[in-house]
Amino acid sequence: MKKILVCNQKMFLTYDEAVALKKEMDDVNFSKVDLIVCPSYLNLDVFKNYNLGAQNCFYEDKGAYTGEVSAYDLSFKNVRYVIIGHYERRCYDPDEVINLKVKAALRNMMIPILCIGETKTDKDLRRTSEVLKKQLYKALDGVSSGDDVIIAYEPAYAIGGEKPVLKEEIEDAFKYIKKLLNEKNITNYKLIYGGSITSSNIKDILSSQIDGYLLGLSSVNINELKTIVKCIK
Ligand code: PGA
Repeated sequence: MKKILVCNQKMFLTYDEAVALKKEMDDVNFSKVDLIVCPSYLNLDVFKNYNLGAQNCFYEDKGAYTGEVSAYDLSFKNVRYVIIGHYERRCYDPDEVINLKVKAALRNMMIPILCIGETKTDKDLRRTSEVLKKQLYKALDGVSSGDDVIIAYEPAYAIGGEKPVLKEEIEDAFKYIKKLLNEKNITNYKLIYGGSITSSNIKDILSSQIDGYLLGLSSVNINELKTIVKCIK
C-alpha cells in the first residue's frame, strides 16, 4: 500500500514561486507515494496536473458569504481533497463549523483531511484522549460509515517546529483514534501524521501503522520533498 503524502503549502508561495516549485516537482518521481498537493486557492491552477486538495472550504454551496470559497465551487476545480480543522484554522472554526465543512466536502464528492490534535497544555494536563475524542466525535457527527475520510493527527505543539512527536506517541494516539473510529462505525479511513517533518527526521517516524504524512514547510522546499519521498516509498 502506497503511503499518502499531503503537501500543505499554507500561504508560503506567491504565484510565481508556485510556478517555479511546480516545475521542479515535475522532475521528481512521485509514483511510489499517493501525493496530494494543497496549494493556496490562488495557486490551485498551477498544480492542476496533480492530485489537488484545498486548505479550507466553506460549508454552504452558494450565497451571500463575502470572501468565502465553497466546497461546491472547489469541486469544479478538480479539487478532490480538503484539509479541515487544521490547528491554524481552529481559532476561526469551532467544532460545529468543522462538522459542517466535513459534510460539505463529502456532499461535493471530496475526501476531507480532518486534522485533530491536542495542545501542549492538553498534553500536560493529561487531557489528550478527551480532546481527541471531542474533536473527532463532533467533526464526524452525521458522517456515514462508508464515507472516505483521512484523519491527520497533528499535535498543535509539533506544528511548525523542528521535531515531530516520537513514533511511539504517534502509534499510541493512532491506536486510540482507531478505537474511536470503530465506535463511530467509520470504516473507510486512513490515518496520517503531520507536524515538523523534515528530511532529517522522517526516518524516525516511519511505521507500518502510519498510512501517510502531512508536510507543511518541507513541502515547499524541493530538496526536502525529494528526500522525504525517497525515504517513505
Ligand atoms: P509543518 O506543518 O510541517 O511545517 O510543521 C505541518 C502542518 O501544519 O500541518
